Amino acid sequence: MIKISPSILASDFSKLGEEISRVEKAGADMIHLDVMDGHFVPNITIGPPVIKSLRDVTGLPFDVHLMIDNPERHIEAFIDAGADILSVHVEKNPHLHRTIEMIKNHGRRASVVVNPATPLNTLEVILDKVDMVLLMTVDPGFGGQQYIDGMTQKIRDLKKMAVERGLGFDIEVDGGIDLDNIYEVTQAGANVIVAGSAIFNAPDIAGMIRDLRRKAFSAEEIK
Ligand code: DX5
Ligand code: ZN
Repeated sequence: MIKISPSILASDFSKLGEEISRVEKAGADMIHLDVMDGHFVPNITIGPPVIKSLRDVTGLPFDVHLMIDNPERHIEAFIDAGADILSVHVEKNPHLHRTIEMIKNHGRRASVVVNPATPLNTLEVILDKVDMVLLMTVDPGFGGQQYIDGMTQKIRDLKKMAVERGLGFDIEVDGGIDLDNIYEVTQAGANVIVAGSAIFNAPDIAGMIRDLRRKAFSAEEIK
């Protein structure tokens, strides 16, 4: 089973609530919310008040991707706002264990993220404590970028680490995922798929989510 997590970064920000309802009706499994602080990444997006205002719009889990410095300082605010899964980067996070513990102590799902250039061995100390690992397949900061090819091997390597250690964490991929590469990433071991522009730029978003699911299990062309 794979899960599809549309990134609202590619949606129309003037009507975020309606955009979330639209992807929920179209068959999304969760909602990916990209939080950027202008320090960890060059861009600035949304914070806890906006997430809180969207919480009642949907029953789907909020998959909150924190691209911020010192995430530990803000974990409680995001949990209060309604985050269900919180992903924190290993880069610029000196207190990774404390941050992950904080998330788990609040009964939420804890996830760690690595940028494309960050090696997987930075995860070794924390792998047995997380519910999910998010592998960035583009440098974070913007939607609509191209998938970095070398990331497929990284997904395979992470899957191998999970199997060798007998761990069942989810593997989420984020950045440049579309109909052309979803089969490749799921074959490599990813089971949670973030897609922003592929979904929100599609004329028929329900059709796109359905096709992404089909392509995740089949290398055949969709007619
Ligand atoms: C990038 C964000 C992604 C982005 C994905 O920094 O973390 O979630 O919105 O968008 P696409 O699918 O368009 O690459
Ligand atoms: Zn993201």
